[in-house]
This record gives sequence, structure tokens and C-alpha cells, in this order.
Amino acid sequence: MNSPILEVTGLTRSFQQGDVTIEVLRGVDLTVGQGEIVALLGPSGSGKSTMLQAVGLLEGGFQGSIRIAGQEASRADAHARTVLRRDYLGFVYQFHHLLPDFNATENVVLPQLIRDRTRAEADERATALLTALGLGHRLTHRPSQLSGGEQQRVAVARALANKPALVLADEPTGNLDESTADVVLAEFLRLVRGEGSAALIATHNERMASKMDRVVRLAEGRLV
Ligand SMILES: Nc1ncnc2c1ncn2[C@@H]1O[C@H](COP(=O)(O)OP(=O)(O)OP(=O)(O)O)[C@@H](O)[C@H]1O
Ligand SMILES: [Mg+2]
Repeated sequence: MNSPILEVTGLTRSFQQGDVTIEVLRGVDLTVGQGEIVALLGPSGSGKSTMLQAVGLLEGGFQGSIRIAGQEASRADAHARTVLRRDYLGFVYQFHHLLPDFNATENVVLPQLIRDRTRAEADERATALLTALGLGHRLTHRPSQLSGGEQQRVAVARALANKPALVLADEPTGNLDESTADVVLAEFLRLVRGEGSAALIATHNERMASKMDRVVRLAEGRLV
């Protein structure tokens, strides 16, 4: 049996607004197996982004346990969290957050350079990923010279650049029209499957969720 890539136990998170405490996550448990693609469904405000930020080790303020590849991450120090992120995780955001001064290839090359990869190896991988996503003719365009769907495909390539064992995606096609969103999602899932990565993908779109291996739903701070 392969051990799970992600084990979340009793995750809680609340925000203080003046006198009011908003309990967003109230004891979330989730296990994601290696290579498994899980849809995180829930209405707006249910806590999907909050949960992905916790799992992505981007924010503190949580209680509970987060194990990534068997390593307890919730109590790791900042350096250890950075290493876990670098070695195991890739991110796709709703808005791509590409670097505007770098072209498509460079945006996919940069995260690879913090690993021990040569520029030539990183270039080769960036070109292969972007070409697989149908952007072989846009390799040297900057984000401002790309359409929304093309920008989001670059963001997908960047997330996969270092072959992460777990891809975290927060509404990865949320700002695209429906037909473009379908195409980008299909390409994203095909690449994730091809690489054998696992993924946790937040969406409020049932139809998109149905294309993944398993669906979990956030409601009232818990997964149901
Ligand atoms: N920094 C914060 N301070 C106070 N409340 C917050 C903060 N961040 C999030 N919240 C609250 O937590 C709840 C969950 O927010 P979150 O962004 O996780 O929802 P979501 O499921 O991702 O929604 P959406 O589908 O709209 O992206 C919301 O009610 C939000 O107002
Ligand atoms: Mg959100």
C-alpha cells in the first residue's frame, strides 16, 4: 500500500472580526492518496480557499494536523515548510499570478531553478509542458500578450514544472468562460494524470468536479 500524500486531521480555523469569531473550518479530516485527484466542492464562503492555504502551508493560525508525504507540516518551522512546499507542492490560483516581466517559458523555468536543475533542463521541461498545453506557438509571449485561457495554461505548466506529488488548485479556471474553462481543465487533468501527481482542486462547479476521481464537500466547516 502506498502511503497517502496528504493527511489532514481535525483542521480548524477561525477569524476574529471585532467581537465576533467566525469559525470557518471546524475539524476537517481529509486523506488524499498518491495520484488521486480530489474535487473540493462548496459554496462561496464555505472555506475552500482557507483550506487550500492551510494545506499549502501558506498561512499559520490553524489547529490540527497536516501531514504531507508522511511529514507533519503544521508544526514545522518556516524553513521546513518552505522545503516541503518546494519538494512536494505545486499551486494554481484563480488568477494566474504570473510574473509580468517574464515570458511564458521563463515563468515555467523560474520555479525549476530553485531546484538543482540546469537552465537547459528547465527550458526543455518548460517547452515540453507548454507545448503539451497547446502553447507551443506562444512560448516567448509575456502574460499581457496572452489571452486569459492561455495565461491560465501557463500557470498550470508552472505548477507542474517541478513534478509535484500534490497539486493544489483554487478555482483554476474560475475566471474563464465556460468553454475555455472546460478545455483548460481537461488539459490540466490530463497532465496531472500523466505525471502521476495527486491534486486537490477547489471549485463550486459540480460539472467540473464530476471529472475528478472523488468529490468532497465543505459545509458548515466540515467535509461531508
Ligand atoms: N482574513 C480573514 N479575516 C476574516 N474572515 C475571513 C478571512 N479570510 C476568510 N474569511 C472568511 O472565511 C470564510 C471562508 O472564506 P474562503 O475564502 O475560504 O471561502 P471560499 O470557499 O474559498 O469562497 P469562494 O468560493 O468565494 O472563493 C468567508 O466567510 C470569509 O469571509
Ligand atoms: Mg475561494
